[in-house]
Amino acid sequence: MIVHLFPNLESLGRLAARHIEVALLASPTPVLGVATGSSPDPLYSALAERARVGTFSPRRLRVFALDEYVGLLPGSVQGYRRELNRIFSGVLALDGSGVEAPDGDASDVGLAAEQYEQAIMLAGGIDVQILGIGQNGHIGFNEPGSDLRSLTRVVDLTDSTRAANARFFDRIDEVPVRSISQGLGTIMRARATMLIATGLAKAEIMCAALTGPVTENVPASILQRHPRLTVLLDAEASSALDIRLLRSAAIVHDWR
Ligand code: F6R
Repeated sequence: MIVHLFPNLESLGRLAARHIEVALLASPTPVLGVATGSSPDPLYSALAERARVGTFSPRRLRVFALDEYVGLLPGSVQGYRRELNRIFSGVLALDGSGVEAPDGDASDVGLAAEQYEQAIMLAGGIDVQILGIGQNGHIGFNEPGSDLRSLTRVVDLTDSTRAANARFFDRIDEVPVRSISQGLGTIMRARATMLIATGLAKAEIMCAALTGPVTENVPASILQRHPRLTVLLDAEASSALDIRLLRSAAIVHDWR
């Protein structure tokens, strides 16, 4: 585990983008796994800027979403595939038809979830999986209690997750109650993982995720067992973290 602590979002985004660039350029068929939400915004802005000026132009890049809502209204702007296409399509030459995401509109969403897991495997697996974290410790939509070996599947969203995501909708009752999410086992298969957390609201859960026991109650804690985990935190998100309690092999870069 490598933990980077940043004074602000710009510096976090810049380093995260360089890290992604190096990791993807090493692969002839690069596959990036991406989260939506606010946490990766500084990274996506920095990647877009590097793509715009030509320093980042991986060839044959494929991008896979971490999750997608089930049962959104047709044409809904909150769909993750749509949002990720907005972020990536303009700046990166994606191989294929754009960002790939689970089909949350499928008539059989269970089957769609299985097909998505297979699609990731057929693409050769994910080189780098970008992750945010929920205040309850979820990664993707793997809520507390998720099996640590779970694969892509249909999951129920907790009330707290729906409340946190209500900011993207007009009303809370418009927030779907289910999604298709890569599982914790799927995430752990990625060759490298990158967890980004910003803001005070993430301080306590980051402490539990990185220095607490590995437990289903804090799904992100499974990442402690990932052989190539990079964690990027701003000053607020790292404010409760006692770096002396990190696993002994952890490396900490304090850029604050
Ligand atoms: C998004 C996702 C979620 C978010 C998490 C944090 O695809 O799967 O796990 O990463 O809810 O969201 P933000 O970054 O908006 O605080």
